[in-house]
Amino acid sequence: MAIIILAIESSCDDTSASVVKDGIVLSNITATQRIHEEYGGVVPEAASRRHEENIIVTIKKALQVADVDIKELSAVAVTKGPGLLGSLIVGTSFAKGLALSLNIPIIEVNHMTAHVMAHFAEEPKPSFPFLCLTVSGGHTQIVQIESHNAMRILGETLDDAAGEAFDKSGKLLGLGYPAGPLVDKHAKNGSPKFEFPIPKIPGLNFSFSGLKTAIRYFLRDGIKNDPAFISSQLEDICASIQRSIILHLMAKLKRASQKTGITQIAIAGGVSANSGLRAALKETSQKNNWNYYIPDFQYCTDNAAMIGISAHYKFLDGEFSDLYLTPQARMKITSA
Ligand code: KG4
Ligand code: ZN
Repeated sequence: MAIIILAIESSCDDTSASVVKDGIVLSNITATQRIHEEYGGVVPEAASRRHEENIIVTIKKALQVADVDIKELSAVAVTKGPGLLGSLIVGTSFAKGLALSLNIPIIEVNHMTAHVMAHFAEEPKPSFPFLCLTVSGGHTQIVQIESHNAMRILGETLDDAAGEAFDKSGKLLGLGYPAGPLVDKHAKNGSPKFEFPIPKIPGLNFSFSGLKTAIRYFLRDGIKNDPAFISSQLEDICASIQRSIILHLMAKLKRASQKTGITQIAIAGGVSANSGLRAALKETSQKNNWNYYIPDFQYCTDNAAMIGISAHYKFLDGEFSDLYLTPQARMKITSA
C-alpha cells in the first residue's frame, strides 16, 4: 500500500503543508507572513497568530493540489523543533488533533535534519556519505550524513547564522526584511570592491558577528565623507558583503572535505538560495572534483516538503511518535 504523508511546518514565520506519496512530493504549499516586514524581524506572537489563521487553508490546498483525500493519509508529520515555541505549538497541536481524529500515526521531524533531507526530494539524490552546509536564518552548520537517520555536526556558528549576517547587514543598509534576498539582488549588479575581514576561527566552526560590526564602522566612515554613500555604492557594498560571507562558508566547506575525504557536497537552508553561494559551490566543485547538490529554490527556504521527505524515511524505519509529543525550541541534530 502507498505511504501517503501530510507534513506540516510552522517553526518560524512560514506556514507550510505538503503531501508526500512514497517519497515523492505531490504538493508543497507555503503561506508567507508579510506582517514581519513592518517590524524588520519576526515577531513571535504575531507569527503564532498567523499560523493559526493560515494552517487550515494551507493544508486544504496541499491536499487539493496533491489530489489526495484526507482519509487516504497514512501518517501526519510535523516539525518538533528547533524554532519559535509558539509557532511550533500551533503545528504540533494541529498535527496531534488530526492524527487522533483520523486514527493514524504522527511522525516528529527535526527542522535542521529536514533541511538536509530536502535533497531526497529531487534527482539526483546524494549518495552516502555526504557533507551538507546548512545555512539558514537561525543556523549555520556543516553536517556529515552517513545515512538517512545518522548525521552529525562537524562545525557550526559560534554566534550569528549566515542568514542573520545577510539580514543584519542589509538592515544597516536600510533594506527591508528579510534582507538576504535583497542583498543578493543588488549584489548581482555590483562588484566586490570593498574588503571586509574574514574571521579566523579554528576548525570547522564559523563566526559572523565581527562582519556586522565591520560593516557598521565602514558605513559610518563612508557616510561621514559622503552622505549619499550607501545609495551611490549600494550594489558594490552588497556584492562585497556577499563575497565575505561566501568566502568564509566555502573555506570551511573545503576544509571539511579535506578533513573527511568526502567529495559529495550539498548546500541547504534559506541561504542556499543565494546566487553567489550557488555559483561558488559549482565553481569549487569543478576545481576539486566534487559532486555537488544544490536544492531547487522551493526546497531552500522553509517548506513542508522537506518535513514530509524526512518523515517518509522515518515511516520506513517504523519511527513514530505518540500524542505526548511536545515541541522543542532548541533541538540538536542527533544520530537517531
Ligand atoms: O531556512 P530559512 O527559510 O529559515 C530558517 O530556518 O531560518 O532561511 C531564512 C534565511 C533568512 O535569513 C533569509 O534572509 C535567507 O535565508 N535568504 C537568503 C536568500 N534567500 C533567503 N540569503 C541570501 N540570499 C538569498 N537569496
Ligand atoms: Zn529553516
